[in-house]
Amino acid sequence: MTQLHGKKALVTGASRGMGRATALALAAAGAEVLVHYSFNEKAANTVVEEIIGNGGKAHAVAADLRDIQGTFDLSERVREITSGKLDILVANAGIARPARLEDTTVADFDDMFAVNVKAPFFLVQQLSPIMGAGSSIILTSSLATRTTVGDLSAYAASKGAISTLVTHFAAELGSRGIRVNAIAPGVVATDMSSFVETTEGQEFTLGIQAIKRVATPEDIAGVIVFLAGDDARWVTGDVIRADGGSKL
Ligand SMILES: NC(=O)c1ccc[n+]([C@@H]2O[C@H](COP(=O)([O-])OP(=O)(O)OC[C@H]3O[C@@H](n4cnc5c(N)ncnc54)[C@H](OP(=O)(O)O)[C@@H]3O)[C@@H](O)[C@H]2O)c1
Repeated sequence: MTQLHGKKALVTGASRGMGRATALALAAAGAEVLVHYSFNEKAANTVVEEIIGNGGKAHAVAADLRDIQGTFDLSERVREITSGKLDILVANAGIARPARLEDTTVADFDDMFAVNVKAPFFLVQQLSPIMGAGSSIILTSSLATRTTVGDLSAYAASKGAISTLVTHFAAELGSRGIRVNAIAPGVVATDMSSFVETTEGQEFTLGIQAIKRVATPEDIAGVIVFLAGDDARWVTGDVIRADGGSKL
């Protein structure tokens, strides 16, 4: 099992869904976790309390990542809380505003690119200077980058940018011993993909997957913990599909 004792991790969007599961899993492996959220303070505090209740260390940190100032403020808080040394950065926070081409608004397009691309880009810019050899950055891509799954063209483009950034960040940061990868989940049962709670949503999901069950956030968190730890020391610049064999 991956050991992360003595490591400090930031997980963005850790109040709910995959970020929450990832924060709990990193803490279970021994990491001290900064649990980021945007507005859902109560949910973030519950994650922090659960980690502390299990004997771990955690802190809640708020920032709205639609505004670039939120990214800079979050980075400053992370530098303060970690005393200037971060080992694991999981840029997980994301938003999806499904819409057909003709219905996609400029505001929704801009919000998706702000949270899904601009924020991770500048978080890596701001926080990689306090990450050293052996550190790991994990970004969040999506199945939507390689196939259509609903009306998600703008969202898919934002995730496509993440898959591209991984290559370039990994090349740039590799000489400092920092690995950079992304995870590309398929449909996962979270608030974002609440359509899986309907019979049609579940049928659609199982219909595109080789494995016939709906993914849980914990299915993804385990892969992120692996990427964060030393067992993945030779893995960088990659996008790891974790989608139960979707659209094979
Ligand atoms: N669910 C899927 O099927 C699926 C599939 C592929 C990829 N993904 C990607 O996986 C990641 C996690 O998705 P999820 O389904 O776990 O999401 P989720 O359950 O909807 O949770 C989203 C998280 O992001 C935070 N967030 C939302 N808007 C934000 C903003 N403006 N600024 C900062 N943080 C914000 C939320 O904080 P609050 O609680 O404070 O609002 C929450 O912690 C996302 O990048 C998503 O695109 C999801």
